[in-house]
Amino acid sequence: SNTPLALTPPMGWNDWAHYGCDVTESTVVANADALVSTGLAAKGYNTVTVDDCWMARSRSASGHLVADPAKFPHGMAWLGSYLHSKGLKFGIYEDAGTQTCGGYPGSGPNHFATDARDFASWAVDYLKLDGCNVQSQPGMSTEAVYRQAYQAQAAALRSSGRAIIHSVSAPAYFQGGPNWLSVIGWSGQVGQLWREGADIAMYGSGSRWGSVMYNYGYNKGLTSFASPGNWNDPDFIIAGDGGLNADESRSQVALWAMMAAPLILSSDVTRLSSDSLAAIGNSNLIAVDQDPAGHQATVASSTSTTDVLVKQLANGDRAVAVLNRTTSARPASVSLSSVGMSGCVRAKDLWTGATSTTSSALTASIPAHGTAVWRLSAANGCVS
Ligand code: GLA
Ligand code: GLA
Repeated sequence: SNTPLALTPPMGWNDWAHYGCDVTESTVVANADALVSTGLAAKGYNTVTVDDCWMARSRSASGHLVADPAKFPHGMAWLGSYLHSKGLKFGIYEDAGTQTCGGYPGSGPNHFATDARDFASWAVDYLKLDGCNVQSQPGMSTEAVYRQAYQAQAAALRSSGRAIIHSVSAPAYFQGGPNWLSVIGWSGQVGQLWREGADIAMYGSGSRWGSVMYNYGYNKGLTSFASPGNWNDPDFIIAGDGGLNADESRSQVALWAMMAAPLILSSDVTRLSSDSLAAIGNSNLIAVDQDPAGHQATVASSTSTTDVLVKQLANGDRAVAVLNRTTSARPASVSLSSVGMSGCVRAKDLWTGATSTTSSALTASIPAHGTAVWRLSAANGCVS
């Protein structure tokens, strides 16, 4: 199929960062139902992906993947049809190597076609293909082996008869090495989004804000790789879950939206506070994330205390965000010229919805670890 896929960044939910290998059918169903009842699904969070550990430890006698019958008693086709009946899409996890990261059967190197056909028959809409246990091959570089595996998966998906978004994990296995950018480059030819680096810290770990800042840090410079159908993925949204306070949760959503990152929530949706729901479901920020021009923000300035991000939007507006990295509230002032604007500008605070006009600078008091974010448009009537 040549249907263009993921023309805006994918949005949805994945069990991994909250539940890890303890995922079950009832967990997935409960979170899927909560996406619908909270209204997050209607706002775009509609692809529900079952991550690692959904399988039985070995393939069937005829070589097919099978769901763990204890965890997923109705099987994967049933789950896909349940999700579709709720207006959601169905995502699944596999691996390009011989085993998944959790030690379950991988698709590589010989099962890509069989597995893609099975995924299509289960009505899968989205495949996250991880890169653990990719075996070296004589005479081939590690990068070439990965590339061959992901190309094989992409070809298998194309011939499966179903439009399936392909989330590529290959670059994460090259982070920090000399081939990282090269792997990101070809990932955009085999899939629509790619993980480029470390996993976001799991629920229960002590350093989740540090992890959000680390992933933001490796992702923010990759602006040139993003375009409609090609997205850098700095991993899950963990806003509203344990380990982030309200301002930190808001910052993650704002920064990911500015970076045109996939918004794949991995919090327990059944237990989000109203504050968290408001941040995760902030329609102003979702519109920035999903802007059809598909630009990732550029970094206008970066210091030890603050970063200023600027994102050009399809209708000529610009979104501007200021991250306060420090542990105390800080005043921020951003001149219009530093974000490429001049004249009279209307600024909408995307948290409060309040609008104001200025011909000089944006100002705010930003809480510790908070992010101020505005949408700017040309205006008339600034008093000079
Ligand atoms: C890797 C991925 C995670 C998750 C686990 C599952 O660590 O980066 O997102 O899929 O594998 O084992
Ligand atoms: C407050 C400010 C916003 C923004 C957020 C960040 O709500 O009014 O501009 O800085 O905090 O959490």
